[in-house]
Amino acid sequence: MSFVQLNKVSLAFGDRDILLESDLTLQAEKKTALVGINGSGKSTLLKVLAGELLPDGGQVIAPEGVRIGYLPQTCLVTGGTVFEEAERAFDNLRQKEAQAQHLAEAAAVAEPQQALKLLEKSHEILEFLEAAGWYRRQETIEQTLRGLGFTTKTLYNQVTVLSGGWQMRVALARRLLEAPDILLLDEPTNYLDLEANEWLENFLKRRAQGFCLVSHDRAFLDEVVDQVIEIANGKLSVFSGNYSAFEQRRTEEKLRLQDAWKRQQAELAKQEAYIQRFRAQATKASGVQSRIKQLEKLERIELTSDASTLRFRFPPVPHSGHDVLTVRALKKAWGDTPIFSNLDWDVVKGSKVAITGPNGVGKSTLMRILAGRDPYFSGTLRWGSGVQTAYFSQDHENDLNPQKTVLEELETDAPTDMFPRLRDLLGAFLFPGDDVEKKTAVLSGGEKNRLTLVKMLIQPSNVLLLDEPTNHLDLASKDVLLDALKSYEGTIFVVSHDKYFLSHLVDQVLELATDTPTRHWGGWQDFARRLEERVTVLSPGGAPVKTESQLSRDEVKKRQAQERRLQREEDALLTQLDELETQLKQNLEQMSDPQNYKDGALMRRFQQEREGLERQHAETQTRWEATARELEALKA
Ligand SMILES: Nc1ncnc2c1ncn2[C@@H]1O[C@H](COP(=O)(O)OP(=O)(O)OP(=O)(O)O)[C@@H](O)[C@H]1O
Ligand SMILES: [Mg+2]
Repeated sequence: MSFVQLNKVSLAFGDRDILLESDLTLQAEKKTALVGINGSGKSTLLKVLAGELLPDGGQVIAPEGVRIGYLPQTCLVTGGTVFEEAERAFDNLRQKEAQAQHLAEAAAVAEPQQALKLLEKSHEILEFLEAAGWYRRQETIEQTLRGLGFTTKTLYNQVTVLSGGWQMRVALARRLLEAPDILLLDEPTNYLDLEANEWLENFLKRRAQGFCLVSHDRAFLDEVVDQVIEIANGKLSVFSGNYSAFEQRRTEEKLRLQDAWKRQQAELAKQEAYIQRFRAQATKASGVQSRIKQLEKLERIELTSDASTLRFRFPPVPHSGHDVLTVRALKKAWGDTPIFSNLDWDVVKGSKVAITGPNGVGKSTLMRILAGRDPYFSGTLRWGSGVQTAYFSQDHENDLNPQKTVLEELETDAPTDMFPRLRDLLGAFLFPGDDVEKKTAVLSGGEKNRLTLVKMLIQPSNVLLLDEPTNHLDLASKDVLLDALKSYEGTIFVVSHDKYFLSHLVDQVLELATDTPTRHWGGWQDFARRLEERVTVLSPGGAPVKTESQLSRDEVKKRQAQERRLQREEDALLTQLDELETQLKQNLEQMSDPQNYKDGALMRRFQQEREGLERQHAETQTRWEATARELEALKA
């Protein structure tokens, strides 16, 4: 039986205990979630289990020959093509095959009896190779890589040109293909989109051996694990059952502990009152002494305070025009491979837009283009007047200088008049006291994310470009970020694989596609529903209904032209509504100004003006509703 065991293991960074004389047995067949808030030490624990980090004290024990596979939270792959990198998982089997070959060659020239022995050995190895999947490796590798989102073409791309997220997918594929006895995965879902996420979920469910997995995705954990290990304040606790069961037990336990603490406090108060009262009386002296001793011996119940949570709001946004973004005929290609094209896109102030689409369709690429980091595209892209963007990139750790401390990193970007407030600001983002002196290189995933968020916050901006902003954040921090974004007055463009996050934030969706991208009005749920319908629509006879891609080119062109026309009309109507509302507001101000009360004629004029404006507003509103409906129908 395979396992890894911690025996009284301690580890601290500065004055922060990550493990305190901890014991743990991680059995290979268990499907385990490792959970805890950001910075509690999950990644550190995995490194200790994997033997990559030596603890300060105690032992890490594993039976001889146990193979441990560990995928760090962030890592870069070495080189070669995607396929080659994944194939390295089979390096040890390749050696074995060479060994078998060698034995067979030796047998050919050996004495008959010796030859038989050699051949038997060689045969044994070949059988082992067969069972280990050596002869099916081409298929297995391809299946795994495809499951994680690679296509026939991208299988043979060089890994070094891939984004950090895609490199992680290659590293994940390699670990999975190695099929180790103990599989340790640190937040593997961070870089996966919905499809790849589902593939991994199924893979882990089917895996005969267990694994130990860090993730902040509740739904994912509930599907795949049967035990939960929690790390908090240097202590490890093991719970059997899935994640929801763990959460429920945790809540019950907390209530029980609070009860016990209250009872103990009452008892302590009683004993102390007795001691105070009879301390001076000789007759009670021995009773008092024994109670004092008892109190000293008593193990006090301590309530661990709930980990403090992030608290912040985005500052008021600088003023900008109504039209935030105008894009015409935008096209992006990598060499000859088109990524997306025909993107005509207008975004108005205050929109909360999700950018979505299947694997590799170029969501992050579009974000980089929007952020001005990728000038290689054709077509036009114009930001509106007064627009100031702030960008949260998916590979945000590359934006942090590993040599700098947290505070220095922030000082690089902050205006000098903000310096006195930086420590407070970092405190609100859960970098208390000395933590601001940490080098950014040692920060945990969640800490790096939060530091990048603070950096965004200190730049004045009215457009946020967020590429997977919830990555690495624990559940509580995710909720706080969501709340802050919901009340953000500026415009938001977001790419995220977190369905919960999207459905509570966005009011429109841009669905990228290699040919023509599509805009969808309404929130994420509407979009998700439409997506589902698109997959399942069948005509009564069972034959699939003609879908957009099967419409003739002319029809598609006609439709697109009509859609563009309606879109322009809608935008114009919205602008008109905006103007009418401003005029109505001015009119109301004039009518409620006491100075004007005396002038009857003037007031009548205002009143007439008001009626006119209201009529116009109602008409425009009706026209806008009709246009929006027509547009909606066309898109559906
Ligand atoms: N080499 C180091 N020196 C000093 N502090 C460190 C070092 N490595 C990690 N830490 C700190 O130890 C704490 C635990 O880090 P770890 O990466 O294990 O957290 P985590 O639970 O994985 O968090 P997350 O959910 O954010 O990934 C963090 O506060 C981190 O900054
Ligand atoms: Mg971590």
